[in-house]
Amino acid sequence: MLLLVGGAAAIQSIGPAAAAETTLRAAAANAGLFFGVAASPGRLSSIVGQEFNQLTPENDMKPATIATSSGGLQNTGNADTLVNYAQTNNMLVRGHTLVWHSQAGSLQGANQATLNTFIGNALNRWGNRIAYWDVVNEALDDNNTGNRRTQWPHTLNRDANGDGDFFDTGDTDVIRDSFIRAKQVVQAGGLTTKLCINDYDVEGLTVRGGTQNRKANALYDIVRNYRQYIDCVGFQAHFNDNPNSIITDDLQANIQRFADLGVEVHITELDIDDDLSNNDIGAGQAENYRKVVRACLNVARCTGITVWGIADSESWRASERGLLFTGSSGNYQKKAAYHAVLDELNKGRVPTNTTSPTVSPTVSPTVSPTVSPTVSPTVSPTPTAGCTAAVSLNSWTGGFVATVRVTAGTAPINGWNVRLTLPSGATVTNAWNANRSGNSGAVQFGNVSYNGRLNAGQTTEFGFQGTGAATGLTPVCTAS
Ligand code: XIL
Repeated sequence: MLLLVGGAAAIQSIGPAAAAETTLRAAAANAGLFFGVAASPGRLSSIVGQEFNQLTPENDMKPATIATSSGGLQNTGNADTLVNYAQTNNMLVRGHTLVWHSQAGSLQGANQATLNTFIGNALNRWGNRIAYWDVVNEALDDNNTGNRRTQWPHTLNRDANGDGDFFDTGDTDVIRDSFIRAKQVVQAGGLTTKLCINDYDVEGLTVRGGTQNRKANALYDIVRNYRQYIDCVGFQAHFNDNPNSIITDDLQANIQRFADLGVEVHITELDIDDDLSNNDIGAGQAENYRKVVRACLNVARCTGITVWGIADSESWRASERGLLFTGSSGNYQKKAAYHAVLDELNKGRVPTNTTSPTVSPTVSPTVSPTVSPTVSPTVSPTPTAGCTAAVSLNSWTGGFVATVRVTAGTAPINGWNVRLTLPSGATVTNAWNANRSGNSGAVQFGNVSYNGRLNAGQTTEFGFQGTGAATGLTPVCTAS
């Protein structure tokens, strides 16, 4: 007989918790995805190989740099530097990009035959050293029309029967024809390179106000129609205040529907305007990063995330401060967004803590389990709940930033509270990844919604900034 205990017990993952990883690439690898960055040779400081296990040339593989007007290759030195660096550092490479209306250089205006020549040359030059290639980039129009772009190379498209699509016999379609060519090259060369289509404003099922995302729907139709040639879909994910470029709650559902077509989905050019949801520099952005990472982690075929640069100041959208680091020229500091991403990656694909189901199952399984467990649990020491906290301080004359690491004891915890006493003259001005009460003398920091639950031994970090001097802090952690 099968007993269903509905809605009673909280499900906690038990057993030894893996130690949290301390780099994005290690945490991502544990979760079965890559975490990458876009770079140029001038940005290859040691952090690139330490934190990331995938590399996209930010500009050095674009036709404007490497294509001749007849589809040959030129100026491949920077691209080679990046590919070599990636290989030395065990990173995957995403080739970016073959067919694009922008940064097309002397390929601008070329016909399909010339595009095909270029596709063959580029794919064959790097072969399997490139894991993923963006074959077609940004094929769809702005403003949520759901239409193709009309400028070159999309002038090569022909809708023979005028029915509004390019999917019929007799139609020509630069997207289809470029992918067919790329697939031929891959097959002829026995390559494992996967062929992707990449675009922006295609991330959610809806855009601001709940309107359908027609651009995403159009991309979906393309992938479904040309599935035999397309292996992967890139959502650029340049999130900003444009109504079509926001993070919506249906991001995961949209990733899922593409994944259900059998393609891999990647977040390919992630940056998030730091006042996208509010004006709270740091915390709001960190939360938004967490949402995006979680949406990908929750879909098994979402196999990689790439941020579009290392530090805000070196980003193509520097004024939006959309990346994971501050600083420049190899001297980088981690932002709250970095810690949020690392923490979320460390939780892995399946949330480590699930709350009690609130709805009891209505359908009983008809098949009883036939295999009984053969291994009895060995007796473990009774776990002691609790947590510890350690502070690291970065001080300057008149101010400081404190980073506090909270570590769960030998049992999982559902929440934490850290108390500490600031020396007189020190005042907290803001905090991130924690709810604060008090700003001088005895102050307390409680977990926020996303970082209270920790498995045994797992850690999370929060921080606060203040004026004055904050020496000799002794944090006391209490778990709930
Ligand atoms: C951007 C680069 O980041 C800039 O350095 C360059 O000046 C313009 O292109 N979508 C893409 C990327 O597919 O290639 C773009 O990269 C950003 C938008």
